[in-house]
Formats: sequence, structure tokens, C-alpha cells
Amino acid sequence: MTKTLIRGRLLTFKRAPLSLTDTASYRYEHDGGLLVEDGIIAAVGDYAEVKAQAPDDVAEIDHRPHLILPGLIDAHLHFPQMQVIASYAGSLLEWLNTYTFHEELRFVDTDHATRIAGHFYDELLRHGTTTAAAYCSVHKTSADAYFTEAMKRGMCMVGGKVMMDRNAPQGLLDTPQMAYDETRAVIADWHGKGRNHVAITPRFAITSTPEQMQAAQALAKEFPDLHIQTHLSENLDEIAFTCELYPKAKDYTDIYAHYGLLGAKTLLGHAIHLSDRETDVLSETGSVAVHCPTSNLFIGSGLFPLNAIRRRKKPVRVGVATDIGGGSSYSMLRTMDEAYKIQQILGERLNPLDSFHLMTRGNAEALSLVDRIGTLEVGTDADLVVLNAAATPAMALRMETVTTLPEELFLLQTMGDDRAVAETYVRGTAMKGGLIGS
Ligand code: GUN
Ligand code: ZN
Repeated sequence: MTKTLIRGRLLTFKRAPLSLTDTASYRYEHDGGLLVEDGIIAAVGDYAEVKAQAPDDVAEIDHRPHLILPGLIDAHLHFPQMQVIASYAGSLLEWLNTYTFHEELRFVDTDHATRIAGHFYDELLRHGTTTAAAYCSVHKTSADAYFTEAMKRGMCMVGGKVMMDRNAPQGLLDTPQMAYDETRAVIADWHGKGRNHVAITPRFAITSTPEQMQAAQALAKEFPDLHIQTHLSENLDEIAFTCELYPKAKDYTDIYAHYGLLGAKTLLGHAIHLSDRETDVLSETGSVAVHCPTSNLFIGSGLFPLNAIRRRKKPVRVGVATDIGGGSSYSMLRTMDEAYKIQQILGERLNPLDSFHLMTRGNAEALSLVDRIGTLEVGTDADLVVLNAAATPAMALRMETVTTLPEELFLLQTMGDDRAVAETYVRGTAMKGGLIGS
């Protein structure tokens, strides 16, 4: 049994913080110790107390003065879009048709899919992200590459072969039957292997016929524990086209409701432009609206009302995500900086404790995985990020005037990126350097 004692300033959340002074919402250890046994957190607390429980010859790693948090979680992104980031488009549908679909065609090739999947995980780890929920391409080969590379790194990943049978280039289309059969094959090959979670993944209503929605419904009935991920109400032209394609639906949300695709494990990317009726439906079904701030700004899709949607009488569960390659950064720190600015524009405040809760425990709850990830609780997987708030000269200078934990977190969020990630652990193994080239 391998045992490691990791020392540093520990921060983990117990629940969503209500304010900047809500110290009961988190646990902070100024000189903390984490004892990791075979990838699992075996003890957590004050360093001296945890050290007393460890064997004399335990391997020790000292990260002081850096902060150690649960690994960051990204609730929505697209692994075949690594070479789409920074594509110049005026709107969502133009961006999809001009760049994105063409790029995804390349994932029919196993070698290409494998190469990009390797880079994908290494890039996540460089940015401190240890779990993500991603879309593969329509090709089963892309899902095979995605889960193979996740297992090589021991990472906990959610992902799915995209289902799409219309309104895209021919090479990117399956059929309702193929989508059903191949999703079943991906489930059989990968779900529950290592730390893999397969998601039923109809891309969005525009690219799925009603017959394919029925196939997704059949899968959801057969595999009720699986995640379902799709896109909802990202852009006004998208919404108008969607409603033309499904004229009997009350609205966009009603399409997914009609096919039984809403529920506690449903992740809805963007969900920006919703009526009260639709928002109520998301709340009643326990579905998760995933906020993708850098993407929503970059593609010009709109301002997601993160605070307003959470404090309604019928609140909606939320996650936060990069949405690579519509998003413009792999960093969850950069993501929450943009989320903060969107709240500012909307006349709201997003406090840094709330942001760090969302990136860790909040997203673990959104993915229904908080029993394994997102906290530093004993018995959970030792996926960790080590953050240095003085990583650059400008950050170090600002750190000289920082006196409180919330101030430090806010500095990390406002100025931090991959340079602020001192180390990333997957199940207790240091991984920031990635696997490629190592
Ligand atoms: N809607 C359907 N597909 C996509 C995608 O790949 N990215 C974004 N941002 N929105 C989508
Ligand atoms: Zn997306």
C-alpha cells in the first residue's frame, strides 16, 4: 500500500457559501496535512495530527505556502474542438457551420482522435482540472480514444459519443439506429471501467430528428443512471430554428422534456435565454444548467443569470464550464473571472468563495459525483490542485497586500491561469506535467 503525506494550506467546502464571511461553509487548515493511501484520502486535518497517524517512513511532499484544493471540475466542453479554439465567427450557427463541424469530421480517424485526446487530458491537468464532462464527436472511435486516454491517466471523466443525424456535413451524421447501437456499444465498452462515466449525448435538437430523440429516450429509459448531456437555448437564432423544427413543442425546453431527457443527471449547456416556464421545468426536474461564461462572451451568445437562477423560488441547479472550443480558455480560474464580470454587468455580485465552491464541490454536486470528488473528505479520491497566488511577478506584488483567504482566492481568480497551478494530483499521483513526452 502506497502512502503519501501532502502538506500545505488546505481548503475544502462543506456547502455553498452564502457570503464572503460565511466561514461555516468551508474548512481551512493553515498548516494542513492530507494522508493519501492508494489514491484515496485516508486522513485530513492539522499537519501534526495527520502526521501522527502516518507511518514513520511515509513519503512527504511539502507544498507550503500554496493552497491545496480538490481538483477543479469542468462540467461542459468538447474534446474534438482543441483546434477550433480562437475561430473568428459572428454567431453560434456560423461558428458551428464554418469551423466546428469540419474539424470534428477528422475524428473518424483513430490516430487523430488518440493524438488529440492525449493533448486534451494533458491540457486539463496543466490547468488543474481533474474531472470533466465532454462531448466526443459522432464517431465511436472518438469515444474510444477519449476513454482510453482517461484510463491511462486514472482520471474520472464523463463523456459520450455525440448523436446527430441532420443539419451537419454527411460525414458527421449517424442515424437513429446507429446512434442507439453505437451509444450502447460505448456504454458496454467503457461505462464503469476505471473511473469512466458514459453520457447519453444528443448534440442539440437542431441536429437530431424526432426519431433520433426517441432513440435517446430509449437509451435514457434503459440506462436511467447515466448522465445525459445536450445544449439548450444558447443563441436566439438557434432557438428560432429549433422551434421551427419542433413546431408542436411549447418551447425549446419542452422538446427535451417531451423525450424524457430531463432529470437530475441531465447537463444542459448554456441555457441562457429561458422563459419562466422553462426555468420552472428545469427546477422541477432537477436538471442542471451549465454556465459557460468565456464561450457565451466569445461567441456573443448572451449573459447567463447565474445568481438569479439560483435564488428563484424554484431554483435551478447549476454547473460551470469552459465549453472548449467555443470557450476561450481551458482554465477554470479564467472561466470564473469571466463569470464574475458577467454578474457585474447584470448588477449582481459573485463572491470568490462561491466561485471556488462552484469549481469544486458545486460542480461535483452538479455531476452527482460528490461522493467521490470535489471535496477533501476522507474516503474520497485524492484528486487535488495546488494553487500559487504569487505565480507571476504581478500576482506576487499584489499578494503583498492580501490579508484574507477570500482576497487570495479573488486574486487567483482574477489574475490566475495555468501558471498559478503548481501541481495537479490524480488519485494522489502528481500529473501536472501530463503524460505526453514524459
Ligand atoms: N450547440 C451545438 N453544438 C455546439 C457546440 O459544439 N458548441 C457550442 N458552444 N454550442 C453548441
Ligand atoms: Zn458545448
